[in-house]
Amino acid sequence: MIDTWLTRELGIRVPILGAPMGGRAGGRLTGEVSKAGGLGLLGAARYATREWIAAESAVARQIGGDLGIGLMTWSLYDDDALLDAAVAEKPKVISLSFGDPAPFVPRAHAAGALVCSQINNVEDLRVVEAAGVDFVVAQGTEAGGHTGSIGTLPLLQQILESTDLPVVAAGGIATGRGLAAVLAAGAEGAWIGTALLASPETIGPAFAPQRLVDADSTDTVYTSIFDRARDQPWPERWGGRALVNEYTETWQDRGADKATLAQAYDATNPELAVVYAGEAAGLVNAIRPAGDVVRDIAEGAERQLARFRK
Ligand SMILES: Cc1cc2nc3c(=O)[nH]c(=O)nc-3n(C[C@H](O)[C@H](O)[C@H](O)COP(=O)(O)O)c2cc1C
Repeated sequence: MIDTWLTRELGIRVPILGAPMGGRAGGRLTGEVSKAGGLGLLGAARYATREWIAAESAVARQIGGDLGIGLMTWSLYDDDALLDAAVAEKPKVISLSFGDPAPFVPRAHAAGALVCSQINNVEDLRVVEAAGVDFVVAQGTEAGGHTGSIGTLPLLQQILESTDLPVVAAGGIATGRGLAAVLAAGAEGAWIGTALLASPETIGPAFAPQRLVDADSTDTVYTSIFDRARDQPWPERWGGRALVNEYTETWQDRGADKATLAQAYDATNPELAVVYAGEAAGLVNAIRPAGDVVRDIAEGAERQLARFRK
């Protein structure tokens, strides 16, 4: 068994957190990650509702017992109703990512949750440290979905050298080798998204899992055009990593206005719709249950780390 701050603090068997992926990580995926020994985080997108959080949390609990919930910090500044909904579920972890979580941390703590934030550079680290989070997630640019511009390994090293808070690594981790690498570097665990996205327990467009299986690690792009096309008011500093398709090839570098991008967008057409996924895409080669993915990564890491035992 791999024993880290994360496994001890959360009472989990493997140091793996299922990333809160808005539009993809509902109750089933979340529950399966927890059932396999990690902790799944429900991905509450900005447009999620209180009812959705309550219903999907119940599904996750029924399958896996405990859960975490991830919220988009910047969106809470407009309306923090989703924080109330999350807190009401008494999750083990609340992730407040992308923005300064200071106004929201006390409420999450009052509900008994550990609070974490994904961070993309040392400046972010200082902001979330001052806000009182319990651990940080160093999220590299390889990650699927919205992220920063520094690669996971340099970012992880820099964050580990810069803080006494426990650090979890995210971005590009999809095998036991990846988990072993970040643990050996000093992380307390891995936060895994893309590796779970070809699982039948995901929600979202039916075509998304197979698109990911067919994609290679060279088939992703860091872009804001899907936010502009769909009128998602993400702060400018965060682009999202998605699979390339006809839409990205056509519009990525054209400088088109929002109305034109919106008109050309079609969420039902796989060649035009967004499928957020990271550079681990080339390691996802089959539609597989999330529980199997989590177990394989954990067992693979045990094997890798055993190489160094005498
Ligand atoms: C489809 C998708 C949706 C995401 N949505 C969210 C989200 O709602 N909130 C969040 O904090 N992170 C979100 N992320 C980022 C993940 O939490 C995580 O950083 C990323 O998946 C880790 O890198 P990996 O995909 O290489 O495993 C999303 C990622 C993906 C792939």
